[in-house]
Amino acid sequence: MVDILPAAEALELALAQLEAGEVVAIPTETVYGLAGDATNGRAVARIFEAKGRPRFNPLIAHVADMAMAERIAVFDPLSRKLAEALWPGPLTLVLPLRLDAGIHPLVSAGLDTIALRMPQGFGGELIGQLGRPLAAPSANSSGKISATTAQAVANDLGSRIKLVVDGGPTPVGLESTIVKIEEGGLRLLRPGGIAAVEIETVANTRLLRGATGIQAPGMLASHYAPGAAMRLDVDKVAKGEALLAFGSRRATGWQNAVAVKNLSERGDLAEAATNLFSFMQDLDRSGAAVIAVEPVPWDGLGEAINDRLVRAAAPRDKPLA
Ligand code: TXA
Ligand code: MG
Repeated sequence: MVDILPAAEALELALAQLEAGEVVAIPTETVYGLAGDATNGRAVARIFEAKGRPRFNPLIAHVADMAMAERIAVFDPLSRKLAEALWPGPLTLVLPLRLDAGIHPLVSAGLDTIALRMPQGFGGELIGQLGRPLAAPSANSSGKISATTAQAVANDLGSRIKLVVDGGPTPVGLESTIVKIEEGGLRLLRPGGIAAVEIETVANTRLLRGATGIQAPGMLASHYAPGAAMRLDVDKVAKGEALLAFGSRRATGWQNAVAVKNLSERGDLAEAATNLFSFMQDLDRSGAAVIAVEPVPWDGLGEAINDRLVRAAAPRDKPLA
């Protein structure tokens, strides 16, 4: 059986487990992560095993401070400026990897770049105490919705892991925004918990869009999938559907819905991001075959919310990663 321990009591046990090469589910400000020592190949292999994740998909290495980050990756003035302004926080930077940093090659899937992030709260404290970076993908089975509560982690992965550290619901609710530092500028690889425009403001440059080269699993067409089918941008709800609402204007026929959840009654995108994954799971549990989703605006965090909705709605006939 999996133990769920409050963060205030879990630090020592989590440290002992990580030292022993085990994986531990931990809260971050974005979503729960399934963490293992990034320098220990056995621990990293256990992460892939517990998630059922294809090995070629690289993981994010989480650090406690800039000194640890600079030992792992090569920063240029622009990436250092972004890190100093926006870390700790929901931003992941893809940077050239230092091959002598001791990061196990499974973490970066053999690439010469590494995704780095400095998380807020319990995760940051844990990494500081451990003194080594933690590899941590989102704590969900591959292809499923990311977990934003300790209970959601336990429901999904409980039979495959021993410890979930409970830090309460994650405040941001969406995975980090991933930006790759390239010769020609900054490329947005995955919209996420910090809006692209905030990064552009700090960097004083526009983000390039449209991924080249490696496709992140979060970029596979079908990802973040609930059991129910998803129908997006609805203005009319059909009988028997569940409704994921946004704002105060309801789609017609909403009274037909077997269950209704409103991402944000007052139309606040940060609140909607926080609620997105747990409300998708709640509506999935209603047993409805289809979740109808009202339109969500694309500005600010709306880009990441729509990105996750589009992937959750994608056809499931091809195998999930
Ligand atoms: O908020 C988050 O980012 C959460 C928390 C736990 O930190 N983590 C997370 O990890 O979402 P994960 O593994 O579910 O997504 C990481 C993404 C993947 O899409 C992966 O392909 C991409 O980062 N990635 C990792 N290393 C990369 C690299 N070197 N180049 C391009 N993409 C990379
Ligand atoms: Mg994930």
